[in-house]
Amino acid sequence: MKRRVRKAVFPVAGLGTRFLPATKASPKEMLPIVDKPLIQYAVEEAVAAGVDTLVFIIGRTKNAIADHFDKAYELEVELETRGKTDLLNVVRNIVPKGVECVYVRQAEALGLGHAVLCARPVVGNEPFMVILADDLIEDDATEGGAMSQMVRYFNKYQCSILGVERVPQAETNKYGIVHPLPFATRLSNVDGIVEKPKPENAPSNLAVVGRYILTSRIFDLLEHIPRGAGNEIQLTDGIAALINEEQVLAYEFSGRRHDCGSKLGYLIATVEYGLRHPELGERFRAYLQSCGCQFSGSAPGTSE
Ligand code: UTP
Repeated sequence: MKRRVRKAVFPVAGLGTRFLPATKASPKEMLPIVDKPLIQYAVEEAVAAGVDTLVFIIGRTKNAIADHFDKAYELEVELETRGKTDLLNVVRNIVPKGVECVYVRQAEALGLGHAVLCARPVVGNEPFMVILADDLIEDDATEGGAMSQMVRYFNKYQCSILGVERVPQAETNKYGIVHPLPFATRLSNVDGIVEKPKPENAPSNLAVVGRYILTSRIFDLLEHIPRGAGNEIQLTDGIAALINEEQVLAYEFSGRRHDCGSKLGYLIATVEYGLRHPELGERFRAYLQSCGCQFSGSAPGTSE
């Protein structure tokens, strides 16, 4: 019987040190891009890809995420009283009907691999997706979100799939890099994976970014791998063990990625999403032009 991806895991328990002090009391995944927190973009991408269960791996700043996705009675009553129907619909539809949220506590930030392992009691023996919300990926106009694209290939090949992107060779030391064996257009078999290799040692320039579909076998492997770089349980080490046992594909998704885990990437995403915002886009563009910015083409969502 064909397996389906029904559950999405969102690790949001990292320390977020690069954004301190903003992340002292709230996870970086709650940082907004214009008017929506990063985690909500990630949830929308997962729901569009067909999942019905959202599993949040939460850490010391545990309340912020749960509060965001919880029903806000007082706010709803207030918006209703004031006749703000549009905003009422916005807050009511943060989690679509039929989609369930589950929160699992990662008591200590022992690494991404450990965070994923914390999802085991909820995920069980099903295939599942992992989304790192600080990698914000724009939907492709024709192919949809990165996760929707990956789920289509999962439905076809029924194996783990890593979302990958080509990065400049000089930057391989910032990513997990795969050794790819060509398989089909934009798809490779993963023959090896190395965490943050120096450019001269990198097996390719295909970097794993924050999108994964994994089989439940990864849990057994994560349970037994020793702590790796930074004394953390690394997801990359688990995946390296997985490729010795099962087929793992790397998929070059369509859609521009913004690294919102870095301040510069976050600022760029804010400008890009601001420029295409339906209410603000044109005024924001006019403002930037008045500051001397030049634009080569029309930003999507503006009417120039
Ligand atoms: P990062 O490597 O970006 O680490 O984690 P970080 O702690 O969030 O941020 P910096 O580097 O200190 O600024 C990648 C993803 O894994 C999650 C993070 O929340 C982020 O989504 N994570 C990481 C956990 O959930 N638990 C961990 O123990 C580590």
